[in-house]
Amino acid sequence: MDHFPKSFYWGAATSAYQVEGDAVNADWWHWEQQGGGTESSGAACRHYEMFCADFDLAQELGHNAHRFSLEWSRIEPQEGVFSTPALEHYRQVVRALRERHLEPVVTLWHFTLPQWLAAQGGWFAPRARFYFLRFIENVLPVLGHQVRIWITINEPLVYAYFGYLKGTWPPQICSLPRAWALINQLARAHVSAYRLIHAWYRDQGLSSPRVSIAKNCQAFTACTGRWQDRLAVKLRNSLFNLYILNILVRKKSLDFIGVNYYTRQVAHVQKKNLMNLLLDSCEGAHDPREKNSIGWDVYPEGLGMLLQMLGRKYRLPLFITENGICTTDDGRRWRYIQTHIREVQKAREAGIEVIGYLYWSLLDNYEWEKGFAPRFGLVEVDYRTYERRVRESGRLFSQVCRSGICSVEG
Ligand code: FCB
Repeated sequence: MDHFPKSFYWGAATSAYQVEGDAVNADWWHWEQQGGGTESSGAACRHYEMFCADFDLAQELGHNAHRFSLEWSRIEPQEGVFSTPALEHYRQVVRALRERHLEPVVTLWHFTLPQWLAAQGGWFAPRARFYFLRFIENVLPVLGHQVRIWITINEPLVYAYFGYLKGTWPPQICSLPRAWALINQLARAHVSAYRLIHAWYRDQGLSSPRVSIAKNCQAFTACTGRWQDRLAVKLRNSLFNLYILNILVRKKSLDFIGVNYYTRQVAHVQKKNLMNLLLDSCEGAHDPREKNSIGWDVYPEGLGMLLQMLGRKYRLPLFITENGICTTDDGRRWRYIQTHIREVQKAREAGIEVIGYLYWSLLDNYEWEKGFAPRFGLVEVDYRTYERRVRESGRLFSQVCRSGICSVEG
């Protein structure tokens, strides 16, 4: 079986804040104004104005699906005030995708909050879940008829880790109990959102949508055969990869699993306590691998391992909602794409249902606190002129999208 089926979703993913520009009512924008991050997002890629041209490129590149997110702070810039122009904008976005035969995969929340909500405590605001559901209730009548695939929340554990444990993202809290509480809070928000979305489609007499989260998964490996390293791998896999999925599966609130995969982490425990078991990793020269431009190991076999594990454990379709590399060496990007798709293919051959592969990202973009330096795009962006230039890797990937065949050279 060396062909992917015609129904397989091929494309790329973006998120609103990272490409649209000028999200002046977002908490992240507010944080940047106070000096957070290496540089400010400013006009980003100007995708808010240029989305049609960007989707032309996606179509030219043979994609048949596209993941993007809604910027909640545009849609609800003040508490309880919903912006008709912003909602209308996203209606046009979905229409533009449909016109180009790109299946919209819509993320409701991708890391940035309206500043008014952040000021009330963000996801810990007493009415946070109510606000999230009200936001979705406002979105559904505008987009629901044209959208069949929803991601409620992007990478809950990554958000909890950087915002509430490591403290490098707003709101810059460093507390394990808070991070833990946040993960549970996001799980509850997802379950409620899942039920709300399904109920809305039922009420409208529409066929059931497919709803999930985008779950960042890492391949954990042990640096040595020592029991502490092996235990660390088990623990991290259960907590980082599986904990929230177990809750959501138990609550019957996943129609598929959105998998975001980039890299591995090699556990090397220095001291025998919980934090070290959870966090120590080997930066040394054991089993060295090629790295992306921000130091993450390239480890395609980790994707294969995770797909097999998730597929067997949960028996739900898997959808790669992000996978990519930042590099200035485009040949490496193409190798990364090929070797990862090859792992998807192997998993499918082993009977795992994988329904799509979205590369991160369509465009170079604002990589959060790291700014614009990391280059993830299939399409290069010149931040002085906002010109786009399709990279060779984008063209080569387009052949896979069109033919459903990925052969790995060399
Ligand atoms: C993921 C995020 C995405 C992007 C990539 C590189 O964790 O979902 O926004 O930053 O990493």
